[in-house]
Amino acid sequence: MANVFTSTDNPQHKTILFIISGGVSAYRVLDLIRTFKKDGVYCPAILTKGAQEFITPLSVSALSGAPVYTDLFSLKDEQEMGHIRLSREADLIVIVPASADMIARTAHGMADDLASAVLLAADKPVICCPAMNPQMWTNAATQENIATLSRRGIDIIQPDHGEVACGETGQGRLPSVEALYKTINKSLNLTQHKPLSGYKALVTAGPTYEKIDPVRFIGNRSSGKQGYAIAAALAQYGADVTLVSGPTAIPCPQNVKRVDLESATDMLSAVEQNLPCDIAVFTAAVCDWRVSDVSEKKLKKRDDHTPPHITFSENPDILKTIATHKTKRPRLVIGFAAETDNIQEHAQEKLIRKGCDMLIANQVGHDKCTFGNDHNDVYFLTPDTDSENWGYKPKHEIADMLVCKVIEHLEKHEAINHTGANITKLEA
Ligand code: C5P
Repeated sequence: MANVFTSTDNPQHKTILFIISGGVSAYRVLDLIRTFKKDGVYCPAILTKGAQEFITPLSVSALSGAPVYTDLFSLKDEQEMGHIRLSREADLIVIVPASADMIARTAHGMADDLASAVLLAADKPVICCPAMNPQMWTNAATQENIATLSRRGIDIIQPDHGEVACGETGQGRLPSVEALYKTINKSLNLTQHKPLSGYKALVTAGPTYEKIDPVRFIGNRSSGKQGYAIAAALAQYGADVTLVSGPTAIPCPQNVKRVDLESATDMLSAVEQNLPCDIAVFTAAVCDWRVSDVSEKKLKKRDDHTPPHITFSENPDILKTIATHKTKRPRLVIGFAAETDNIQEHAQEKLIRKGCDMLIANQVGHDKCTFGNDHNDVYFLTPDTDSENWGYKPKHEIADMLVCKVIEHLEKHEAINHTGANITKLEA
């Protein structure tokens, strides 16, 4: 399938309003604007006072060929409420670089300069690209402000690790222009075209914890990162997503409804309660067994030093239960398989045995792909095509690739229409 989001099919006459705040990396936004301008995107900009210490309004407008605004009270047509109009006429607003101060002021709803007033009045998707000193980035104040923005639906492009302008090393660098372009361009296209809108999706993620007694449990090392990335990508493409999650330390992605639980049996009930759905992705690392006789009291060491005897019962296979469901099988069921050896062979067998339409297999126990890593190295399998190796990639890219496969499948089998609404009806 052709990539749905290449620059060549970026529709013309789209507008990105760039909000440039103070930071050494402000000069790199010039290249970003140049790239979007080449695509035919209209790129007006707002420069904060801080940004003007690094770049000039003239350099930005010379490159963009579009107006650059700096002052809340000097917009020519303030009688038309210029700061409101700037947001209304944009398809997307991008804060880049977003300084710690800009982030804090946005989180607190300030409106005492043009940039903050526009953001407060914004009715369009906003992407925030933080860039700052690593200590400023990791400071709890910044992290709390970022979490606030994220909760309110602002997309955060995480800063890169590396050396920053002041010579310190850590997370805080503005990502490359190429990486920013890719992410922003995808969101720009999705502002008008959400191929999965009207579809209901369910994703399981994270580990399950199986109780031994009130304080102990058996679990596994799954971080939930891959499942959360898939839930985020499905939501970005317009699906109505429920994320059924075991214990993780990651925030719920935007526009996703999360159901938290611990055990495999609770995960199965939560999944069943959220049927019917169109797309189900089973990313969770579910414990195969649970403790048969969970102790109501904390188990004590014994005087004779013998360890407790724990017996296990097999947990339900959630994926298989749903994939073979007689009345409520989702249209598309996707499984995962973590294998230590003969990955393709075992994955192919699992795909068929569990009744999935697609399966993603990854090798565990080798150096690059440990649990909790931001990257994964996977094979993609379906019952009737050769397996594909997708290579070593960030988990969010793998999530995007999987969602493209989902869209391709729905286009082929269900006549998804690209006006954004599916023509099949969800069962009652
Ligand atoms: O059999 P295995 O655990 O390798 O299968 C992995 C796939 O099955 C994953 O998609 C996982 O989410 C799912 N699974 C499940 N319920 C279980 C065990 C695995 O849904 N009890």
